Amino acid sequence: MNVIELNHPLVKHKLSILRNKKTGTKKFRELVSELSTMLCYEALKDATLEDIEVETPICKTKGKRLNEDNYAFIPILRAGTGMLDGLINIMPNAKIGHIGLYRNEETLKPVKYYYKVPVNIDKREVIVLDPMLATGGSGTDAISMLKSSGAKNIKFLCIIASPEGIKKINEVHPDVKIYCASIDECLNEVGYIVPGLGDAGDRIFGTK
Ligand code: PRP
Ligand code: URA
Repeated sequence: MNVIELNHPLVKHKLSILRNKKTGTKKFRELVSELSTMLCYEALKDATLEDIEVETPICKTKGKRLNEDNYAFIPILRAGTGMLDGLINIMPNAKIGHIGLYRNEETLKPVKYYYKVPVNIDKREVIVLDPMLATGGSGTDAISMLKSSGAKNIKFLCIIASPEGIKKINEVHPDVKIYCASIDECLNEVGYIVPGLGDAGDRIFGTK
């Protein structure tokens, strides 16, 4: 499977607070943001660096530079926007696109309502953000749209992934690596991740 599950005590600790149904909106948002920073850290492990020269107060030395302008962060609306802060805090110059999708509650199929991505998407490292990978319909469609726009290097960051969602993205887009904080057990009869954390969008925005 083309998936990396973060196995770090801090991730497991924060994820458990996130899952707790008693965790309120403010704390939930903060945790989504913090976990997203950790996912981004892992996803950038293979980033290409340029050699630069740095002058410290002591002497000149060799340094490295990561070209943030090469990156595009693409949250899937709406819950994906909750992850954005955690990434732009550490990569403030990355470009940002948005893909609007919602799941039809009966069919569980994603419905598109918005699409806007940065120019030259074909030359950028594209990082798609969505806290929940459930059936995989939204993630798979979002990646297909990005590929239709020319994107070639795509990674998918989520907080919780179901085995079903991972399988779907891996089958349709084997080139796209998934990064998650947890691979959960399964989906329930209404397409929610078990044990999961409930409806990520509602918990981030306090809508229910
Ligand atoms: C949630 C979630 C994903 C999607 C995952 O969004 O944020 O986008 O469901 O499900 P899937 O893998 O089965 O497609 P939702 O449709 O609830 O919209 P929202 O972000 O606006 O709340
Ligand atoms: N979307 C969510 O927000 N949560 C789930 O468990 C599945 C889809």
